[in-house]
Amino acid sequence: MAIVIAIDGPAAAGKSTIARRLAARLGFIYIDSGAMYRAVALWASREKLDPSDRHHMEQLALAADITLEDDGARVLLNGEDVTDAIRAPEVSRAASLVATIPGVRRALVEKQRAIGSQNNVVMEGRDIGSVVFPNADVKVFLDAKTEERVRRRAAEVNGNREVISQQLHERDERDRSRVEAPLTQQPDALYLDSTGLSIDEVEEAILRLVRARISNGKEYR
Ligand code: DC
Repeated sequence: MAIVIAIDGPAAAGKSTIARRLAARLGFIYIDSGAMYRAVALWASREKLDPSDRHHMEQLALAADITLEDDGARVLLNGEDVTDAIRAPEVSRAASLVATIPGVRRALVEKQRAIGSQNNVVMEGRDIGSVVFPNADVKVFLDAKTEERVRRRAAEVNGNREVISQQLHERDERDRSRVEAPLTQQPDALYLDSTGLSIDEVEEAILRLVRARISNGKEYR
């Protein structure tokens, strides 16, 4: 039986950093589900398609061959390395629009489940503990104060704080208020506010939960 660790939370709360470290530590596969929404958004933008166009977006999501390689460090879309291209600000915005479309979510959730049912995974996103793997062994809701998230993202991309703040707010609002699989904290998820915590402290808190939840019959190295 594969083990699933689900890490959900808003943008720039530190999910990728922590999920990647946990996966390396436990020998699990790291899956960035947001990269899949970004890949579909990138494809749409290259095809000059409107990311709100339900029909076309669903077709792209179904047709997209998205693979994560090198422990999740590289994202391939139809065989092409799009690791950097999917991080562009306009792709972030388009991804949050694409992610509101039910048909797109169905297609990508299916891909995520296929990976998680065969491998021990640490999967991060918005709906992993609520929709993709409601029976995940460990669920974490990783949060951070808005100012802290803006500060981190601005440092990461070396961008203008005002603009980043506005983009983050817009995306948060869309992720939380959409009808299909909105970002919500599950009652059985560990809530962690990473503001003022070091990466080591966040990692340790999650590892404690992993050790407590995962026992007989489900082994990890
Ligand atoms: O985590 P991220 O910023 O790379 O995600 C990009 C967009 O995809 C974001 O606006 C939310 C959406 N997303 C989602 O709806 N469900 C997921 N499981 C992961 C991401």
